[in-house]
Amino acid sequence: MNPPLRSLLFVPGDSERKLEKSLGTSADALIFDLEDAVAPERKSLAREMVAQHLADRKANEGPQLWVRINPVSSGNAGAELEAVLSRNLAGIVLPKAEGPEDIRIISSKLDELERGAEQPIAILPVVTETARAALTLHRYLDTDLPRLYGMTWGAEDLSADIGATTNRDPDGRFAFTYRMVRSQALLAATAVGIEAVDTVYTDFRDIEGLREDSRRSYREGFSGRLAIHPAQVDVINESYSPAAEDIAHAERVVAAFEANSGMGTVGLDGKMLDRPHLLQAQKVLSLASSITQADRK
Ligand code: COA
Ligand code: MG
Repeated sequence: MNPPLRSLLFVPGDSERKLEKSLGTSADALIFDLEDAVAPERKSLAREMVAQHLADRKANEGPQLWVRINPVSSGNAGAELEAVLSRNLAGIVLPKAEGPEDIRIISSKLDELERGAEQPIAILPVVTETARAALTLHRYLDTDLPRLYGMTWGAEDLSADIGATTNRDPDGRFAFTYRMVRSQALLAATAVGIEAVDTVYTDFRDIEGLREDSRRSYREGFSGRLAIHPAQVDVINESYSPAAEDIAHAERVVAAFEANSGMGTVGLDGKMLDRPHLLQAQKVLSLASSITQADRK
């Protein structure tokens, strides 16, 4: 089993310096951006630069390479896919995804371009960028979309769609509407059986805040998060990997069930454990071993 991507670092597609620098980070994936990080008059330049960086990539080592294209509604997505297609391209981030039909449009374009590649290009949509999209996430359930890697969410475009002047409460955390759509993305991804990828932590100088927020997000069930600055990568990788004490605890839970085989419920440290605790412990151990096998530190 391939471990999920923990850190996915955005890199503005029109910045030679950042493109160069990003390749040396320990991000699990880079997302070369053609959308909001690039000014409209530089979009075609960015497209060429990103295509060149993908083509120049030599060995299949280092971060996976992903590209954020422009939304289906821009009318440019197809041409962008043609331009950036490369055997080094691992996936596409689709912004402002309105629903499964947008994923189908991108998938069929990729089918046409790829023709039976060994490692099909994956798709990670941002599923909460309009009120309509956020309200209709259930439409992803019972669809057959094999390229779908996961779902991620964002608060900036949604607050613009709503016409809100802020998406934060006075104490700095996301306001209820944004926490709600975040939970909906987590539930929808789980129900579909794909990864839930948490959004960016915009205050990139606040590394301790990022650590706390990411640790909480990992415990809630997100498998990774978007990053905007190289300084965020190591903290994110660490936060979305089981910590030594999580692994030790999971081993004790599994051992307690093994020592009481046939029992649905066991006690450990004065607390009751039943089947969900066992499943959760097994999940922690399997994630830890897949990260070790993939040799990600
Ligand atoms: N990818 C690669 N390199 C990056 C980077 C990124 N996302 N963000 C910063 N760097 C580099 C800088 O170029 C700089 O390198 P240098 O010293 O060799 O010039 C170094 O890291 C330190 O950067 P710093 O000065 O701390 O930040 P900055 O002011 O240059 O940039 C941002 C701040 C937010 C503009 C920048 O981090 C960025 O562009 N992030 C990505 C934004 C994005 O893609 N958003 C879209 C999704 S929300
Ligand atoms: Mg945006």
